[in-house]
Amino acid sequence: MIKSALVTGAGGGLGRAVALALAGRGCAVVALDIVASAAEETAAEAGSGLVTPLVVDLTAPGAAELAVAESLEALGGLDIVVNNAGWGIGEAFLAMTEASWDRTLALNLKAVALICAAAGRHMKTRGSGRIVNVTSPASRMALPNYLAYAASKAGVDAVTRAAAVALAPFGVRVNSVAPGMMDTAMQAVTERQLAAIDGRDDVAAFLAERTARIPVGRRTDVDTVAGMIVWLALDAPEYITAERLNVSGGLDRD
Ligand SMILES: NC(=O)c1ccc[n+]([C@@H]2O[C@H](COP(=O)([O-])OP(=O)(O)OC[C@H]3O[C@@H](n4cnc5c(N)ncnc54)[C@H](O)[C@@H]3O)[C@@H](O)[C@H]2O)c1
Repeated sequence: MIKSALVTGAGGGLGRAVALALAGRGCAVVALDIVASAAEETAAEAGSGLVTPLVVDLTAPGAAELAVAESLEALGGLDIVVNNAGWGIGEAFLAMTEASWDRTLALNLKAVALICAAAGRHMKTRGSGRIVNVTSPASRMALPNYLAYAASKAGVDAVTRAAAVALAPFGVRVNSVAPGMMDTAMQAVTERQLAAIDGRDDVAAFLAERTARIPVGRRTDVDTVAGMIVWLALDAPEYITAERLNVSGGLDRD
């Protein structure tokens, strides 16, 4: 039977890789993004008609409900949700702004929690479903210049645990993946901001130092991390829930 999946932030980076990988496994996918052309490109790249673009700003009021309702309308059901959309800004601790906190928490945390609940209500009626949230090694680090982001991802870890427990009796599994450094658009912008806060204009050296802190000695890529998300969504034993899988080359470890 064809499985149906909603992937948020699927217009680029990791989300696009997840949408394409799920489509490659025969899933019908809604690729949600705030940027219409990006979601459409993901659908075009899939090429098989298996990916439907959906434009939603997940920071808007009611967006989580809307995203799930539109996905159900497009797909006729939802077996899988990948809460991938994320945003962050490097800001010096002593200069951090309310606007950045609001946008970061609205997208990275509130939308994730409310999508888990909205999708969970549907999955409960079916007695099955899998939700994968994208967290970050940042959630367990002291990052004064990236605090709203780190705090939002610590919140995602709380949501994953709570949603897993709430939905376990109904056959719904909720897990998360913590990707290591992937050279996406978001990562490039963030690292330039962090370099500037540290007063570094030798960005290449700054990046090399960050890479050198990864125990395996190199960065990862979106396809590697997408493979882990697809495994949780389609292949993982049904007994795995409330789990956080690090795909971070040892940067984060349990
Ligand atoms: N890149 C990394 O090294 C890294 C590391 C750890 C965790 N992550 C996490 O992985 C996930 C994907 O990150 P990425 O690096 O692919 O980022 P990205 O910026 O390349 O992609 C994020 C996508 O989300 C979309 N988006 C942004 N705001 C949105 C909104 N309000 N509503 C709907 N869609 C919106 C963007 O348009 C974009 O297509 C995020 O949750 C991020 O926090 C990334």
